[in-house]
Order: sequence, then C-alpha cells, then structure tokens
Amino acid sequence: METVDAGGASIPKLGLGTWQNTGETCTETVRTALELGYRHVDTAEAYDNQAAVGEGIAASSVDRESVFLTTKVWRSNLRGEEVRESLRGSLDELGVDYVDLLLIHWPHPRVPVAETLQAMADLRDDGLVRHIGVSNFTRSQLREAMAVADAPIVANQVLYHPYKDQSALREYCVENDVALTAYSPLARGSVLDDDLLARIGERYDSTAAQVALRWLVQQDGVVAIPKSTSRDHLQENLAAFEISLTDAEMARIDDRSGSLGVRLRNRLPSLVRRLPL
Ligand SMILES: NC(=O)c1ccc[n+]([C@@H]2O[C@H](COP(=O)([O-])OP(=O)(O)OC[C@H]3O[C@@H](n4cnc5c(N)ncnc54)[C@H](OP(=O)(O)O)[C@@H]3O)[C@@H](O)[C@H]2O)c1
Repeated sequence: METVDAGGASIPKLGLGTWQNTGETCTETVRTALELGYRHVDTAEAYDNQAAVGEGIAASSVDRESVFLTTKVWRSNLRGEEVRESLRGSLDELGVDYVDLLLIHWPHPRVPVAETLQAMADLRDDGLVRHIGVSNFTRSQLREAMAVADAPIVANQVLYHPYKDQSALREYCVENDVALTAYSPLARGSVLDDDLLARIGERYDSTAAQVALRWLVQQDGVVAIPKSTSRDHLQENLAAFEISLTDAEMARIDDRSGSLGVRLRNRLPSLVRRLPL
C-alpha cells in the first residue's frame, strides 16, 4: 500500500472509514478490509464502535503492528486530564496498547489548543500514541496548532471530495509536512451518479467511486478514508490504485469543485443537492 510520509509518520493512502458502522457489522467489515489488504482504519471515541473495531483487528490474520489505527478525542474532552482519560478509554475499548494516530476531532473555541496538544504530546512520550494530529482545522487553526505543539502535527483530517475545494489547505499541508486526510471522500455517496466521473471511469473500466478516490490519492500528500460495509465496495475502493488519471482528467475534476454549479450545490438544502450538477 502506498503511503503519505509526513511529520515522521507513514500513513497508508487508503484507510477504512467506520463512522455509523457499529456492532457485528463493524467487526466483520474491519476484518474483511484487513484480509483484502487495507492497513489503515479510522475510528473515534464519538463513533461508539471502538470495541467492534478492535475485535475486527483481533479477528483478522493481520498483526496489530501492521495496521495504522487512528482514533479521535471528542470536543467535550479536550482539557489536559480529559484527553488522557479519553485515550485510556479508547485503548481499553480497542483492546490495544497504543494507537498510531490520535486526532483532535473538532477544534473547540474555548479550550486552548496548546493545552490539548500538550496532553497529546505527553501521551506520545509515554508510548500510548505514536503520532498526533487534528481534524476539521482551518489553515489558521492548523498554523496555530503547529506553532504551539511539542510534537509534529502529522495530519489534518477534513472533508474533501470532488465537490469540495481544499486546494489552499492542501498546498499549506504539503508545504508544512502535514498529511491531508480526506473524509467523506465519496461525498457520502453523491459521487456515484456523477456524469463526468462516470465518463472518465469508462476509459479505465472503472466506476465513478474509483475515479473520485483515485483523484484524491493521486494528489501529493492526500490520504482517503472511504467507508463501506460491502465486501465488493471495499475491494473496488482498493482497486482505485490500479488506475492512473491523466493530468487533463485530474484538472477536469479539479475544476468541478470551483464551478458555479458545484458552488451553488453546496449552498442548497440536501434534497436539492442530490440533483446532478
Ligand atoms: N473527522 C470527521 O469529522 C469525520 C467526519 C465524517 C467522516 N469521517 C470519517 O470518514 C469516513 C468516510 O466518510 P463517510 O462515511 O462520511 O462517507 P463516504 O466514505 O464518502 O461514503 C460512504 C458511502 O459510500 C458508499 N460506498 C462506499 N464505497 C462505495 C463504492 N465503491 N460504490 C458505491 N458506494 C460506495 C457506502 O455504502 P456501502 O456501505 O454500501 O458501501 C456509504 O453509503 C467516515 O466513515 C469516518 O471514518 C470523519
């Protein structure tokens, strides 16, 4: 599996998203994904599925050490001692001794980021966390985090798909040795009906979902974490690495996010957003 190397971390470019996947289905999905070749799993204390994720890892034939495991501390637990408690709870539920990456799930307007990051850096020094990072941080929030952190911020996990322009943030991340992890990379399923992605996919005998994922991971410094509960989709998403888009195709998809249609679409209520633009 290709990796993004940032801030001393080596992050597999494709990860398994697990939001809204719980219980036995989640355990089975994680186990299947690892058997298929995934080596990166994304969870969070807020997803209420860490025990199921841990069981999936344990049930697979893949060693814990070969899996890049990310969890996130929820915004109500960002005070120093709360961060440690939250991580202890995550390790217990996951049934592991450490996580590869601990993220601040969302920034908090009233908790100084320095306090949270100090607690996370201490956990890293204690060997309970290999790397630390953030999620849903803007460029200026990321700049502030990097300025106060005692350990490298290796990733910023943000919404990124063909309808969401993140070019400025991505450029900033590349310049500062931070991976940009794309969440909801399939726009929660909206890309499946996209004419442009489907047309490009026909050239490679691939689906619109594969083209969307390929567009993401073909960019420098970008990791994608699609969620799926279906074995076929898990396999299909992994196979996005078998194609390579031309510069012209990459640029056509880049243009989508800045187009008037897509900008309008992002401002409209969700029902209208289903219209193909
Ligand atoms: N940090 C944050 O604040 C944050 C926020 C949101 C999400 N996330 C993370 O990002 C992950 C992914 O985002 P997401 O779950 O919002 O949405 P997503 O990955 O964009 O889309 C998931 C949807 O796409 C479908 N799908 C997946 N692969 C497919 C394929 N090849 N063909 C057709 N359909 C396919 C899935 O259905 P099937 O199950 O039927 O395949 C599911 O309905 C989350 O699970 C979570 O780990 C993080």
